[in-house]
Amino acid sequence: MPKFSGRYFLRECVRLGLDKREGPRRPVNILSETLDTLYQRHRSLATRIDWGYHRLLPWERGRNFMDHPWAPDQGTLSPELTLAVETAMLTEVNLPWFTHGLTTVFDQGPSALKQFVHTWTREEDQHARILDVYLLLSRNGDPDARDAVRKSVLESGWHRETDDPFALMVYTSLQELATRVFYLNLARAVDRHDSALAHILRALAKDETLHYTFYRDATKAYIEEDPGRLATVCRVIPKFVMPGFGMPDFRRRIKVIGSHAGYGIAAYYDQVLRIVLEFWGVLEHETSSATREARIALDKHLARLRHIIAYTTVPAL
Ligand SMILES: [Fe+2]
Ligand SMILES: [Fe+2]
Repeated sequence: MPKFSGRYFLRECVRLGLDKREGPRRPVNILSETLDTLYQRHRSLATRIDWGYHRLLPWERGRNFMDHPWAPDQGTLSPELTLAVETAMLTEVNLPWFTHGLTTVFDQGPSALKQFVHTWTREEDQHARILDVYLLLSRNGDPDARDAVRKSVLESGWHRETDDPFALMVYTSLQELATRVFYLNLARAVDRHDSALAHILRALAKDETLHYTFYRDATKAYIEEDPGRLATVCRVIPKFVMPGFGMPDFRRRIKVIGSHAGYGIAAYYDQVLRIVLEFWGVLEHETSSATREARIALDKHLARLRHIIAYTTVPAL
């Protein structure tokens, strides 16, 4: 069979999770090779920043809860900062559902993408655990109340917004960068209250940086392969919500995080959205008839965010 026969082309489209009508502008195996390279780069960089929760946790603070029951004045953080750390833990704890969602959607994709989800799961596995154990050791937050929310979050699972592999890649790029920025900003907010926690959050942010970088560059490769995919980017951004969206009290949590943990709408706009829009060249790209409608919706969304930022006062860190 000739290498790029019609049958080969259709089979590759299915394998890559692409709509065959879009059609690749370059041989599709270049995209697979790019993803292979990105995955190998990720593995190499991840080895250099490897960390273990057993080395970072303040074990010396541990006390038996039976002999020393929890009381609200035992912690090192304000109720607002405690809520921010609990929200981070309650988001990370849904890893089994995130892995299920990504594995399902990327099932027909290139093998490097599927392999990456396995490696990513291994790295994310420590995130909820280190935050959960930190909260127990430091006695920040009521452990019984937190445990009840934790169970309810895990039972609810995660409902992904899309079954389109490329749209999910765009979403995950945003989510990983948003999580990185949230952890770094939260680390700055807690540093003077609990330096051990700040250190933990910065370790987590290193993992999130690499996760973001993989998805960001994979997304860029797909856009270069077919610039028509920018329409999907424009459609995903206005619908973006953090994966913890369904957890109890989410609106109050994001309000508190915005005002006390340095991660509100302005931080999202400046440190997340503008970064990815620039990297993918979304706003500089000429709009075609296929992307025009989605681009208009994106422009309206960005204008709305700027309006909210202009009329919202969130205290600076
Ligand atoms: Fe994480
Ligand atoms: Fe991550």
